[in-house]
Amino acid sequence: MNAQPQRIEHQLTDKGYVPVYTTAVIEQPWSNYTPIDHDVWAQLFERQQKILVGRASQAFLDAQRAMRMSAHEIPKFDELNRTLRAATGWELVGVQGLLPELDFFDHLANRRFPVTWWIRKPDQMDYLSEPDLFHDLFGHVPLLMNPVFADYMQAYGRGGVKAHGIGPEALANLTRLYWYTAEFGLIRDPDGLRIYGSGILSSKGESIHCLESDAPNRIGFDLERIMRTRYRIDTYQKTYFVIDSFEQLFEATQPDFRPIYARLALQDSIPAGDVLDTDLVYHRGSGEGWLADGDV
Ligand code: PHE
Ligand code: FE
Repeated sequence: MNAQPQRIEHQLTDKGYVPVYTTAVIEQPWSNYTPIDHDVWAQLFERQQKILVGRASQAFLDAQRAMRMSAHEIPKFDELNRTLRAATGWELVGVQGLLPELDFFDHLANRRFPVTWWIRKPDQMDYLSEPDLFHDLFGHVPLLMNPVFADYMQAYGRGGVKAHGIGPEALANLTRLYWYTAEFGLIRDPDGLRIYGSGILSSKGESIHCLESDAPNRIGFDLERIMRTRYRIDTYQKTYFVIDSFEQLFEATQPDFRPIYARLALQDSIPAGDVLDTDLVYHRGSGEGWLADGDV
């Protein structure tokens, strides 16, 4: 039997039409995966493993090794959960797909990461407009093994519940933070800029583009700058934000965001590709290196 995702309807949101799924947590229907499903996983896994050498952050590579996912078959959530719970107290829960914001925040606030149970079809290897099992499991889950990143994600969930109670603008500001960190973040590793955002880690094209192309901006992490910056969902990002460490990210997001939301409500948003005078811009140095303005 070939199990199908149960889509209920499509709903028009500010991100265009998005599929709406049941919000229930479901058991991973592991024995229903077809040989094609396992093969899609294997191909994507092997392809990204090669590309991510020298591109993914050391923290991601370490976490990935500790999780012991492999190419040979789609991992079982139950097995991953034994490892993950022991490491940081996080667990995966299976879901049909994208969740309403409040459901998503509530899972994160309780150290549960919702993972889409179904995997893309062979003709969708390079692009898919919504998260599937490969994006969620390969991209998001490993870093939940990292204690600091794990705490950041829980704090984000709590912050989401709070922002939801404040209003749509606050929620939009907070969503940009998630987008430019958990999904599309870069980190300054000892050997240069590296990827930790799962939207990049699970994409062959963007893994190369974000570090090798001269087109996008790479700008030092700045919380309010990020919260004002619009983003693209239909192309590679025009701007990536670079953190120095997960500690920096965690510390910077600890203060109460209420006064920040209030301040940002009076300011215009920033187009995705703009560079401001106040930005710390990273440029390629000689060889492998990267330099920020002001570095010697
Ligand atoms: N400090 C944020 C708030 O007061 C919560 C938060 C923490 C949000 C970490 C994102 C990441 O809303
Ligand atoms: Fe994602």
